[in-house]
Amino acid sequence: EKVILAYSGGLDTSIIIPWLKENYDYEVIAMAGDVGQGEELDPLNEKAIKTGASKIYIEDLKEEFITDFIYPTLKAGAVYEGKYLLGTSFARPVIAKRMVEIAEKEGATAICHGATGKGNDQVRFELTVKALAPHLKIIAPWRIWDIKSREDAIDYAQARNIPIPVTKKDNYSMDRNLWHLSHEGQDLEDPWNEPQYEKLLKLMVSPEKAPDRPAYVELEFEKGIPKKINGVEYSPIETMNVLNKLAAENGVGIVDMVENRLVGMKSRGVYETPGGTILYAAHRELELLCIDRDTLHYKDIISQRFAELVYFGQWYTPLREALSAFVDVTQQTVTGTVRMKLYKGNCMPAGAKSPYSLYSEELSTFGRDAVYNQKDAEGFINLFGLPMKVRALMLENNKEK
Ligand code: ARG
Ligand code: SIN
Repeated sequence: EKVILAYSGGLDTSIIIPWLKENYDYEVIAMAGDVGQGEELDPLNEKAIKTGASKIYIEDLKEEFITDFIYPTLKAGAVYEGKYLLGTSFARPVIAKRMVEIAEKEGATAICHGATGKGNDQVRFELTVKALAPHLKIIAPWRIWDIKSREDAIDYAQARNIPIPVTKKDNYSMDRNLWHLSHEGQDLEDPWNEPQYEKLLKLMVSPEKAPDRPAYVELEFEKGIPKKINGVEYSPIETMNVLNKLAAENGVGIVDMVENRLVGMKSRGVYETPGGTILYAAHRELELLCIDRDTLHYKDIISQRFAELVYFGQWYTPLREALSAFVDVTQQTVTGTVRMKLYKGNCMPAGAKSPYSLYSEELSTFGRDAVYNQKDAEGFINLFGLPMKVRALMLENNKEK
């Protein structure tokens, strides 16, 4: 029987290969999904085979990750607990989806991942597998085996002649892709500690080290999706690369937060989301220009629920799909250009225009105008305020008694 293993080449997933063979007698097929971790994945080939895998798939998921997961989430304006731009959350379903496809192709009966039993990632992997391939068995070694520490893992590897990747012992738990890089653990576990940004940041400079003059960027969206930067058309991957570089240079995109994990505990994380931060901010500016009040306010409610669904690993659910359908209708007129100003960690709007703009200078001007009759406001306020007035009168009457 065959098992498909989500493989990164790190210590944890390396020892999972012999562990699976010893404990289940499986043929292990490794899969490394490229979501833009910025590492050379080719050497993983030799490594996986040496460690005992029968085969490895190295899958380029970058474009699909952006168009099918990042863009729908960006259009929804989904932000978890008001801060987290979901960088790790939506990378899990795209990886698990490809694992399921490979399992089908290989006739495998099980899927295995290296996420711990305390985190969100296990949930996201497994819910995706359940939704797409309910018959597949799921194996999560961290919830089963006796290996409890890094030292245990090293001993296990050495006993089986598995090369141990050289990573520093005092590393943060990190997860990187085209959208973000996350840091958890170590000194961050005390929320009173300020992050040591100068040594922690991997993608970007700190605001203190950013240039003393602002950088401008013009983003063109079509139906809520970024198409051009400074007038030049870019592919989704290029778009992320260009914006990541620009934001990173200007210290834009740091989030430091305590968040609620799905499994119940709070955890502290620092996120670098350079390009994504510009995209969210610019997209919002365009929405403010192009979406009517009621739709925009309702969409803000949807955004919050959407963020929970992404964070909780519920991508492949009817509710997420239905909310996406709602979001897509709202994005029909979110087409236009936004100019953003980046300066020492800040990302500020510096102009917006759209053929679908609902902003009317004629209406909002303080000068004389023909469309808006100020006399109309009196009747409007009388009726709008009627319930408040009725209640106030009632309270007054009762006081007298
Ligand atoms: N707390 C974030 C989330 O749940 C980041 C998780 C990072 N995962 C990791 N394997 N290092 O989405
Ligand atoms: C893990 O536990 O594997 C990483 C953290 C998380 O999933 O939240």
